[in-house]
Amino acid sequence: MCRCLYPQLLGLILTGSGADQLALQWHSAPMTVGDGWAWLDGAVQPLSQARVPVTDRGFLLADSVFDTVRTYAGQPFLLGDHLDRLRSSAETLWIDVPWSDQELETVVDALLQRAGDSTAWLLRLVVSRGDGGHGLALPEPQAPRLVVLCRPVPDLPGHLYSAGVGVGRARRKTVEGRSVPAHIKSGAYLAHVLALREAQAAGAYEALLPGPDQSWSEATTSNLFLVAGGALHTPGVQHDILPGVTRALVIAVAGEAGIPVVERPLFDSDLNAAHEVFLTSSVKEVLPVVSIDSVPVGAGVPGPITQQLRRLFREATEQLTQSGTRRLVERYGG
Ligand SMILES: Cc1ncc(COP(=O)(O)O)c(C=O)c1O
Repeated sequence: MCRCLYPQLLGLILTGSGADQLALQWHSAPMTVGDGWAWLDGAVQPLSQARVPVTDRGFLLADSVFDTVRTYAGQPFLLGDHLDRLRSSAETLWIDVPWSDQELETVVDALLQRAGDSTAWLLRLVVSRGDGGHGLALPEPQAPRLVVLCRPVPDLPGHLYSAGVGVGRARRKTVEGRSVPAHIKSGAYLAHVLALREAQAAGAYEALLPGPDQSWSEATTSNLFLVAGGALHTPGVQHDILPGVTRALVIAVAGEAGIPVVERPLFDSDLNAAHEVFLTSSVKEVLPVVSIDSVPVGAGVPGPITQQLRRLFREATEQLTQSGTRRLVERYGG
């Protein structure tokens, strides 16, 4: 990504909170384009200059929710689905989200306008409960803080897709601290951080997280699929997973391609017998897994159904981007 200095870069300022934030102002200030941009306290600013107060409950208590959306061809991909998930996470944790979808889209557009479309961007929309409250008690009224980070999508090297990656099963003990239900994307990712660190220390790329009843639910930032008997198998939304937007699209394109999809818990015996395994996420898209705890999956190379789905997924991203689809339901129904 380019590191250049724009001496008179215009900063878009949106002041206040909630509906007030659409009061647009412009200011001129020297800004350094570092590793991206942030929208904070009503202004687009270089990421390197954005600061959240130390009293923010997101910082102190992980009292926040977030969602991550990427761009294709300069457009946020399935933004409506990500905003729905952000709202659902916030609602479960009683965090107010006083901004309408249109207001949030205005913020995203302002960031992308500044960032340009020469790069694929990863937008992380964070809503913290803001400041205040006595100790752990919720502040009344809440003054939630909106921060949107806009950074380049990590460039995953091509060999990860052509050769596949290894994953490790997290020790159940490591992730016992998952304090928030898995379907909520809260700021409390420490159990995932530790599981990933353990897996990477053992030479793996990602870590599988335990689900209910000794099953394996997902990975630290991706959903889990396996192929067995020509069908896709993946834990259902009730099996301790984040309902991934990529997962939903993969299920939809598999359905259109006539590949059966079975949503059920996945146990050690399922993983051991799988012909193919892959992970999905907005960043990883469809990433083949060729070993689990250093034991090869199937033939130990990316399998044909995984490769077919990766191709179909990419085609779908192009079509959905071209048609400006904001929610999967618009294209695939409910
Ligand atoms: C725990 C977890 N599961 C799954 C995913 C994949 O979700 P999506 O496909 O919406 O990016 C993520 C994404 O960050 C995640 O954090």
